Amino acid sequence: MVILLAKTSRIQGFYRLPLHKRLDIVAEFSGLSEDERNLLIKEGNLDLEVADRMIENVIGTMAYPFAVAVNFLINGKDYMVPMVLEEPSVVAAASNAARWTRKTGGVWAHASDSIMIGQIQVVGVPDPYGKKMELLMHKEEILRIANEQDPVLVKLGGGAKDMEVRVVQTRKGEMIVVHLLVDVKDAMGANAVNTMAEAVAPYIEEITGGKVLLRIVSNLADRRIVRAWCKVDKEEIGGEEVVDRIVLASALAEADPYRAATSNKGILNGVIAVALATGQDHRAIEAGAHAYAARNGKYTSLSRWEKDADGNLVGTLEMPLAVGIVGGATRVHPIARIALKILGVRSARELAEVMGAVGLVQNLAALRALVTEGIQRGHMKLHARNLAMMAGARGELVDKVVEIMIREGKIRFDRAKEIVEMLTKAK
Ligand code: MEV
Repeated sequence: MVILLAKTSRIQGFYRLPLHKRLDIVAEFSGLSEDERNLLIKEGNLDLEVADRMIENVIGTMAYPFAVAVNFLINGKDYMVPMVLEEPSVVAAASNAARWTRKTGGVWAHASDSIMIGQIQVVGVPDPYGKKMELLMHKEEILRIANEQDPVLVKLGGGAKDMEVRVVQTRKGEMIVVHLLVDVKDAMGANAVNTMAEAVAPYIEEITGGKVLLRIVSNLADRRIVRAWCKVDKEEIGGEEVVDRIVLASALAEADPYRAATSNKGILNGVIAVALATGQDHRAIEAGAHAYAARNGKYTSLSRWEKDADGNLVGTLEMPLAVGIVGGATRVHPIARIALKILGVRSARELAEVMGAVGLVQNLAALRALVTEGIQRGHMKLHARNLAMMAGARGELVDKVVEIMIREGKIRFDRAKEIVEMLTKAK
């Protein structure tokens, strides 16, 4: 009788094992070859030792392309914008669209103070509206306890600045939700806010007689907003007809959640690429963006495009951006530090302004393509480049393979391979 032992992923103390031991186990579990193992632990620009300290259960690192979008003029200052992502066309599109805005002064952006919200959920209070008043009466004391947690932030002019109390109706009855409004200055701020929310919880229980459950930052960072806007000369983008079409596309995104989600995805293509390059918590940014887009009960576009009296295009964007230039991966990841240096931003606010501007410009690029030749032409060219490289082409050969595939209208891996073989033999 043959007994087949099922593979198990239940491994006690996996996190305590050294990296190489963990890799052995995974390699055994998944049948990784020697080459595959070596690739996983190949030292790149993030040391394995640093990676191993950043998160748990590390068995290697993974590199992504790091690019720079050019032509950005934001608030009168030139920026080289580092972008990390896997999708072709995005960087080229951002650079192109940034160029269209230059003649009219570039992009303008303004970020609010770095106010984050910490939520404290209180349950089991029979008179939540009465206790809301009592909590508000004790506001100064609650803020004092919160600020005791972070004297450095307070010294920098930040800290818990205000408090709001809401009574939220839920399917489990009414709950009190206290919001601490914390100016986190140059940090993303989740850690500072979470620490404060936890610290004030016992006092809040004392005042309300209720039980505190959640004590956590809200990613709907609607007090930490960036606004970006630009004017584009109609001649830069193909004339008034193109302006009109972009306005029609924008109107659809404003009215229809199905289109809004895609339009916002295009905005986030730019925003998240900068977030990845600079080591931000990009999940927080995405969660905030989508929640903000739905803040009025219906999901809508984060941007709006209009035509001005002269027939030129005017774009505006408003979104929350919880980003930092101190703490987290911005400090430990050496490439994130270099990205911030390339960008040359001096504060989290300036970083948010750049990211908002990039989002707006990325949106413009996508809309311009969508209302004219469509998105696929540019995509296919880059897709063809990828295929050519996967098929082994390098250097000048890549362009030749791409040219032939596009001419033939056959952008496929098998054809790329055939062409590479043919051209290599012909050499
Ligand atoms: C693709 O990554 C992004 C777009 O779909 C955005 C848009 O439709 O506006 C092109």
